[in-house]
Amino acid sequence: MKKIVCDSYEDVCRYAADVYALQLKDKPDSVLGLATGSTPVGLYDELARRYSNGELDFSKAQSFNLDEYYPIDPSHPQSYDYFMRENLFNKINIAKFQIPKGDAKDPVAECVRYDALIDKAGGIDLMLLGIGLNGHIGFNEPAVSYPVGTYLVSLTESSIVANSRFFGPDEHQPTTALTMGIGHIFRSKKILLLISGAAKADITSKLFEGIIHTDIPACMLLLHPNVTVIIDKAANGE
Ligand code: F6R
Repeated sequence: MKKIVCDSYEDVCRYAADVYALQLKDKPDSVLGLATGSTPVGLYDELARRYSNGELDFSKAQSFNLDEYYPIDPSHPQSYDYFMRENLFNKINIAKFQIPKGDAKDPVAECVRYDALIDKAGGIDLMLLGIGLNGHIGFNEPAVSYPVGTYLVSLTESSIVANSRFFGPDEHQPTTALTMGIGHIFRSKKILLLISGAAKADITSKLFEGIIHTDIPACMLLLHPNVTVIIDKAANGE
């Protein structure tokens, strides 16, 4: 696992955008795995800026998001579908994007459908991850076992509290979600993990102990051959 420490969050986003530029240059029809949350917002801004300057072209690329609340209507402002359109897809020329359907009638069938789509695309070339305060990746929450395929997960108290900042006081916050399992994350050819802010310093230091703590899902990344962690000084405990 390679660690790149940047001075600031803005530098993290620029560095990560450079990785995307190289990826799209090498393979214009890349399959991109994408995340939501606050961490990738600056990267998405930078990708949109470079696209509008003519520096990036997503016209042959496609993407798969890691997760989506369930149940939630895709038009709901707190849905990850809405988030992705607002923060990225409405601003670039990506050929195709897929997000688990938060309004699917049958969540299990939706998970099977989503996995089949990823397989049909040939798997993910570049997977973008953030990390939860509890070490979750996607919504793979700390557990004793981790499904390989996409699945319906009950969110932990830690994740519900951490994400409550996005919801208004009277707004219903889902406590379950559909998430890509560990399998498709691990079959990704390259993984980019972005970490920012002092609040993530504890979980980051656990990750870099070089020990597979089985109750920290992100520790499984230590087993993947091509993971780059781009981190700001605050998250690095500096
Ligand atoms: C979201 C996701 C989550 C977030 C994580 C960090 O699609 O997969 O694992 O990456 O919860 O969220 P932020 O960036 O808001 O701290």
